[in-house]
Amino acid sequence: MAKTKRRYICQACGAVSHRWQGQCADCAEWNTLVEDTPASVFSQKHDLSSGGRKIEFVALDTPGETLERRSTGLAEFDRALGGGLVPGSAILMGGDPGIGKSTLLLQASAAIADAGQDVVYVSGEEASAQVRMRAARLGHKDAPIRLASATSVRDILTTLNAMAPPALLVIDSIQTMHSDTIEGAPGTVSQVRGCAFELIRYAKESGVALILVGHVTKDGNIAGPRVLEHMVDVVMSFEGERSHQYRILRALKNRFGAVDEIGVFAMAGQGLEEVANPSLLFLSGQDQPVAGSAIFPAIEGTRPVLIEIQALIVRLQSGATPRRAVVGWDSGRLAMLLAVLESRCGLNFSTAEVYLNVSGGYRLQDPAADLAVAAALVSALADRPLIKKSVWIGEVSLAGEIRPVAHAGLRMREAAKLGFEHGFGPSDTGQDISGITYENLSGLFKLVDRIVPSS
Ligand code: TYD
Ligand code: MG
Repeated sequence: MAKTKRRYICQACGAVSHRWQGQCADCAEWNTLVEDTPASVFSQKHDLSSGGRKIEFVALDTPGETLERRSTGLAEFDRALGGGLVPGSAILMGGDPGIGKSTLLLQASAAIADAGQDVVYVSGEEASAQVRMRAARLGHKDAPIRLASATSVRDILTTLNAMAPPALLVIDSIQTMHSDTIEGAPGTVSQVRGCAFELIRYAKESGVALILVGHVTKDGNIAGPRVLEHMVDVVMSFEGERSHQYRILRALKNRFGAVDEIGVFAMAGQGLEEVANPSLLFLSGQDQPVAGSAIFPAIEGTRPVLIEIQALIVRLQSGATPRRAVVGWDSGRLAMLLAVLESRCGLNFSTAEVYLNVSGGYRLQDPAADLAVAAALVSALADRPLIKKSVWIGEVSLAGEIRPVAHAGLRMREAAKLGFEHGFGPSDTGQDISGITYENLSGLFKLVDRIVPSS
C-alpha cells in the first residue's frame, strides 16, 4: 500500500508544506503549520471505468430550471450580488472584524423575514440575547427570524433537516463552527473546510441560499482557508476603514453575475444605510484647490464614483530611510510610479517621505488611477495645486507613456455632469468626450510640464 505522505497546512494562509517548519514559507507567519489529516486514502479499486451509475446529459436549451433570484431587501446588496440571492448558492462574506458584516446580514435577514420568507440566522460569535439587542437597535425587533446561537454543525444540520428548508441560512461565522467528525479546534483549516463542505452540501440539496461569514487575516485574505473560495459560488468582501462611515460591498468572485458592481453603505447610528448615488461621496468637499490633491473618476460596475487622491511629500534632512505609506492603493504600484517619475521625468523622491491616501476609506483597484496618483504626487512635490475642477485618467507604463483606459468617455461625461471642467488623459480615448475641456497627455513628462511649467 502506498505510504500516505504527511502534510502540514498553514492556518493563516492555507499553504501546504510537506515538512513541519516554525515559519510558513508562504506568508511568513510563525507557528501556524498544523498537520492535516490525509485527504484521501486509495481504496482497493483503482479502476474507475466501471461500477458507477450512469449520469444523464442535458441540452443547454433545456426548459425550466431557471435560477430565480430573491431580493435581500437591500437594493445595494442585491446589486453587488448581481441581482439578488440565487437559491442553493453558497456565499462567503469576508471582511475585517467590526466592519459591519453581522449588521449587514442581520438587516438583510430581517428584510427577507419581513417579506414573509423563512430565515435561519445562526450566530457562533454572539449569544442570542446580544443579537436580539442589535436587532432592536436596528429597528427590527419584531422580524420573524429564526435565531440561534450554536457552533456544532451536527446540531445545526440535524435541526435544519427536521424542518422545511428556509429561504436563507446565515452562519456567523464559519471560523466558530465545529464538526465532531474532524479533529482540531474551530477555526483551523481542516475544521473550516469540513464544516463549510457539510453546510454547502445541505444548501445545494435543499435549495437554501447560504451565507457564510469569514474573517479576514492581517494581509486581507479570508482567514486561513483560501480553499473556501473555491468551494463557494460567490465571494464577497465588505470593505472600508472602521474610522470612516462608508462601506463598500464587492463581489470578488460570482458564478451568477458580474464582479464589477459594488454596493455602497454608510454606517449610521441605526445600522447600515444604503447610498444609492455615491458619485460625490469620496470627495473632501474643499472649495479651494490644495497641493497634492487630484480627483479620479472611477467606474464601479455601471456607476461613476469620483475619488479624491491625496499625496503628501516631506523632505528629510537627515540620511534616514524615507517612509512610503499608502492607504487605499497598492504600495507596489506606488513604488513603480515613483520610479517612473524619477527615471523618466527627472524628479527626485529619494530623500522624501511619501504618503498617499485615497479619501473616504475607499480601496482603489482601477489601473486607470495611475495618472491621478502621479498628478497628486507631482503637485505635492512642487507644492502647487492642480488646475481647479479637473479630473485625471490614464494608466502609466514603465516607459512613462500614458495608456488608454476603459470607459474614458463615460468617465469624462459623468465628471462634466458633476461640475468638473477640465479632463486630462491619454491621447487616444476612442470615445466621445464632450462637455469637458479635454487635454491629451501623451507622456508623464507632459504632466510634469503642465504642473511645473519649465521656465
Ligand atoms: P459588526 O456588524 O458587529 O461587525 P462584524 O460582524 O463585521 O465584526 O459591526 C460592528 C460595528 O458597527 C461596531 O463597531 C459598531 C458599529 N455599529 C454602528 O455604528 N451602528 C449600528 O447600528 C450597529 C449595529 C453597529
Ligand atoms: Mg460579527
